Amino acid sequence: EEGRKVLDDQLDRLVPPLGTYPPAIHEALRYTLLLPGKRLRGNLVLAACELLRGRRENALPFACAVEMVHASSLILDDLPSQDNATLRRGQPVLHRVVGEANATLAAVALLNRGFGVTLENSLVREKVCNEAGEVLSRAIGTEGLIGGQVVDLESTGKEVDLDGLEYIHSHKTGALFMAAAELGVLASGGKVRDREALSLYAKNLGLAFQITDDLLDYSGDPKVTGKDAGLDRDKTTFVNLCGIDGARQLVDDLIDASVGYLLPFGKRSRRLKALAEHVRRRDR
Ligand code: IPE
Ligand code: IPE
Ligand code: MG
Ligand code: MG
Ligand code: MG
Repeated sequence: EEGRKVLDDQLDRLVPPLGTYPPAIHEALRYTLLLPGKRLRGNLVLAACELLRGRRENALPFACAVEMVHASSLILDDLPSQDNATLRRGQPVLHRVVGEANATLAAVALLNRGFGVTLENSLVREKVCNEAGEVLSRAIGTEGLIGGQVVDLESTGKEVDLDGLEYIHSHKTGALFMAAAELGVLASGGKVRDREALSLYAKNLGLAFQITDDLLDYSGDPKVTGKDAGLDRDKTTFVNLCGIDGARQLVDDLIDASVGYLLPFGKRSRRLKALAEHVRRRDR
């Protein structure tokens, strides 16, 4: 909750205020970004940095960049040509408010601003900014989030096996979780060994997160989740592939595995452990 507040305030400051010319795109840009998201990925950046005794301020621009990229992916994912959603973060999806053209442009603008904010992080060395940009670019690209999203869309209405589904989930969702952890490590000046451990923590967490998302699409309450339920009807998900109990068991196994990678860090990993336990039980 505390990290969420910090991220909300900073995100607000990092995008042009309402009324900035041309007003329509700035309204669109701010809409999905500043609605109440959980800020899980941003918190992951901050918590990974703090775990390694880095300063939070150094990680904050990277955390905001990850949240901008994430918001961009949500806007695109909701479009009629993709999931055709109606509700996001408790409000009508962006394209229903501003139309598809400005929704698409806002998504691209958020992606662009995310990279700008990453490269402008003056609290860390230039080399760190550049590496953070590379990590983010790879995570979002065709061999990351976009690749996963493409296979998700082209598999709709078709049968997918467990390996195929794991590819989709670990790319469309897991890749950005891993990048978030790595950006936190980079901001802290952490070692390669730390980066590997926290990246594996995030990989398992990201996959668990998307399985809990499938569970919430199946049985969640839109009043609580803030988004549509039942949009995955024509998709293979972990729920229809493994059953509810099977999916829950997988979540438990993945969260246990993710928490296992925190053991070498002892008590300092308290926040990352709490984040993982939150994903295990979440209802939104
Ligand atoms: C939704 O992510 C998209 C998925 C990858 C499942 P979140 O559930 O983190 O969405 P917000 O940021 O809280 O709105
Ligand atoms: C979204 O997966 C993944 C990305 C946004 C890349 P979903 O389509 O399941 O996410 P929700 O349920 O719409 O949030
Ligand atoms: Mg989708
Ligand atoms: Mg969707
Ligand atoms: Mg979903």
